[in-house]
Amino acid sequence: MKASYNRLIEGNKKFAASKKFGDPEYFKKLSLGQKPDYLWIGCSDSRVPANEITGTESGEIFVHRNIANLVVHTDMNLLSVLEYAVKFLNVRHIIVCGHYGCGGVNAAIGNDLHGLVDNWLRNIKDVYIKNQQELEAISNIDKRSDRLTELNVIEQVRNLAKTTIVQEAWKTRELYLHGWVYGINSGLITDLCVIKTGIENIEPIYKLS
Ligand code: CO
Repeated sequence: MKASYNRLIEGNKKFAASKKFGDPEYFKKLSLGQKPDYLWIGCSDSRVPANEITGTESGEIFVHRNIANLVVHTDMNLLSVLEYAVKFLNVRHIIVCGHYGCGGVNAAIGNDLHGLVDNWLRNIKDVYIKNQQELEAISNIDKRSDRLTELNVIEQVRNLAKTTIVQEAWKTRELYLHGWVYGINSGLITDLCVIKTGIENIEPIYKLS
């Protein structure tokens, strides 16, 4: 029996052939460099692939993914990706994309011990506590999880706005921060409209000049 990973190698051959069929220069052009307009910060969930659900091609989106799409201000991985995207690639849009039915959000709502990840998900518990009244007024547990997913995305967009990287960029140019939620059961993205083009919406203590 063929190992299941062979399917991926076969899939890659078909992918390469079909792209070359559509445009013989496709890979040659990509090899010259990247100039993406978007930085995507999404969940690691296998059902939320950035390019596939947005109908975009290789080279269009710079991607960072972690469990439950968090922007943690001490995460060197996230900060390095963010700085590279903003300073060197000059992306104009940063999208934080959460998704309904997120295992990370559901785990954060509960009290079960999973291990290391619980320390990571602690960030979502903090979002819960900030919005406890609103969330506990929702009796349906799935709807409560959906709302926490949205509030988590909004909080992560705010976290982006608090970074030195984004605030420095805003001094000289436009940089849009977007909060989206993807519905795994509909295939559709909801724009939560948390677009920020300036620091006016950040609490004064977080403003840097
Ligand atoms: Co998720």
